[in-house]
Amino acid sequence: MRIYRAKDYRDMSRKAANILSAQVIMKPNCVLGLATGSSPVGVYDQLVEWYKKGDLDFSEVTSVNLDEYKGLSPESDQSYYYFMHKHFFDRVNINPGKTYLPDGLALDEAAECARYSAMIHELGGVDMQLLGLGHNGHIGFNEPDEAFEKDVHCVSLTERTIEANKRFFASAEEVPRKAYTMGIKTIMQAKKVVVVVSGEEKAEMVKKAFFGPVTPHVPGSILQMHNDVILIADEAALSRL
Ligand code: F6R
Repeated sequence: MRIYRAKDYRDMSRKAANILSAQVIMKPNCVLGLATGSSPVGVYDQLVEWYKKGDLDFSEVTSVNLDEYKGLSPESDQSYYYFMHKHFFDRVNINPGKTYLPDGLALDEAAECARYSAMIHELGGVDMQLLGLGHNGHIGFNEPDEAFEKDVHCVSLTERTIEANKRFFASAEEVPRKAYTMGIKTIMQAKKVVVVVSGEEKAEMVKKAFFGPVTPHVPGSILQMHNDVILIADEAALSRL
């Protein structure tokens, strides 16, 4: 694992955007695994800026997102579909037909998980996966548990995650209770992984996930077993190391 120390959120975002840009330049038809949440917003802003300058071309890129809330339609402004269009897809020349997320409205959980898994497989896997780290150590929506969930699955969100994500909703009651997410195996099969973490409140979790024991109680700790991970964190997030 390589760790890049960033001064602050902006610096973290620029460093991560540099790595994603390199991926797109080296392999224009790559498959990018993308994340939502506050951590990658600055990365998307930076990529958009370079795209507008004419330095980047996403026309051949395919994207697959980590996760989507179950029960939210693409039109819902809290859905990850909406988030991705607002922060990235609608601002660059990526082909919308090649941007994939789990279908939040799918009722048959097993069928949707199988469909999304098969689709990622058919694409040939993810070349570079962008990740954030949850306050409870989750990656995607792989919540702390007794065992690692391997494939795409439908998960019940923990109170901690509902609490952490309510800032995006009118109230905690409105946060969906379930989500579709890539599993740990799906994430670990990405050829390269880039994790962005910012802020003091994640510092303890950064220490646990990247320097503590590998355990499903801290799902992000599995990344220690991946052979091509770059952690880009700001000074506040690295302050407990
Ligand atoms: C988002 C995702 C989550 C977030 C994590 C951190 O697609 O899968 O694992 O990366 O919850 O969220 P933020 O960045 O909002 O702190």
